[in-house]
Amino acid sequence: MKLLVKNIKKLVQIEDMPKTWVAGSDMKELPSIDDAYLYIYDGLFADFGPMSSCPDHPDAEVVDATGCMVFPSFCDSHTHLVYAGSREIEYVDKIRGLSYEEIAKRGGGILNSAERLRAASEDELFESAMERINEIVSLGTGAVEVKSGYGLSTESELKMLRVIRRIRSESPITVKSTFLGAHAVPMEYRGRQSEYVDLIVKEMIPQVAAENLADYIDVFCDKGFFTVEETERMLEAAAKYGLRPKIHANELALSGGIQLGVKHSALSVDHLEFTGEEEIASLLDSTTMATLLPGAAFFLGMDYPPARKMIDAGLPVALASDYNPGSSPSGDMKFILSLACVKMRMVPEEAINAATINSAYAMGLSGTHGSISRGKIANFFITKPIPSYEYMPYAYTQKLVDRVFLNGKRI
Ligand code: NIG
Ligand code: FE
Repeated sequence: MKLLVKNIKKLVQIEDMPKTWVAGSDMKELPSIDDAYLYIYDGLFADFGPMSSCPDHPDAEVVDATGCMVFPSFCDSHTHLVYAGSREIEYVDKIRGLSYEEIAKRGGGILNSAERLRAASEDELFESAMERINEIVSLGTGAVEVKSGYGLSTESELKMLRVIRRIRSESPITVKSTFLGAHAVPMEYRGRQSEYVDLIVKEMIPQVAAENLADYIDVFCDKGFFTVEETERMLEAAAKYGLRPKIHANELALSGGIQLGVKHSALSVDHLEFTGEEEIASLLDSTTMATLLPGAAFFLGMDYPPARKMIDAGLPVALASDYNPGSSPSGDMKFILSLACVKMRMVPEEAINAATINSAYAMGLSGTHGSISRGKIANFFITKPIPSYEYMPYAYTQKLVDRVFLNGKRI
């Protein structure tokens, strides 16, 4: 299968030498070629360059992109898109003034989703998650990380992870799977939190590993959820099975989660609304990606993470949607770009780097995804005709992702 995309107004985020991530002031650079071609062979990017040197590929299918830009697909490194049922009632409660923690204490929040998920069949969960997958694919996402965490019992966590495995085998999108048994303490363990941690350590982690159902382990390490000590126990247990952490940290308080993530070589620490100098210092010189989820801060009406401070200190940052029914019911990465620009003062180049190459790193895919680079998986989209790449975050409600390709094939 050969594909030649011609007359591309701008080919965005090209890479000659693969890099692991883009950090600090380098995030303002977005390597691109004007009036370009892109050649795809066998599902991989094979070649690209200016139209003036476009080789003849007589046997390739030709796609004309006059007036349009080509981007590598977005990488969405943090979602909870397997769930049963929406939670718009809590949304209204929030508008009326209840806090996230107050809603959680009343058995709402994550526990509400857990109750519904336990009652749903694997097939029902798969069908509804696939609708969300198809939606995000049409919005330009080409790789997604999906977490468990609404099961909160061994049986239901395994059920969620099997749904994620099925998505991986039946959809052309690249999928990474994360075990998040420690998302909340389930009702039946109320007041016995350490026993629930025992269950995760002694039963859930070994079974998840035995069935090879997860790439990573996550813990909601924050005020009112799991402590640093509990998180450490779970990360240590998971490390024995080779599960690297990607943790929810510092969404609700300066909880120590960022430093703990760095200590355990987490691939990413995510949320980070509460990040001070010490947290930034610990992330510098680490291999942990600071992943920001502005969709959650937007939806919950909370303060945004200090992206400017982080980037100015020299850190790389990634962006993800956090697609979930409680704090971010959207997987639209283009809207995430707009929020990053308007609310966190990231310039469009920084936001695009954060949503592509850096987010690919945050899900262990920087060798194969996140940029237009020879040998990488040909996941990309062609925009509608647009004047500039800055127009993507600027026109924040326009659907500008037009033609989507995964593994070199039109979707
Ligand atoms: O990433 N912060 C913890 N977990 C999710 C929220 C999940 C929910 O409310 O259902 C998040 O925002
Ligand atoms: Fe999350």
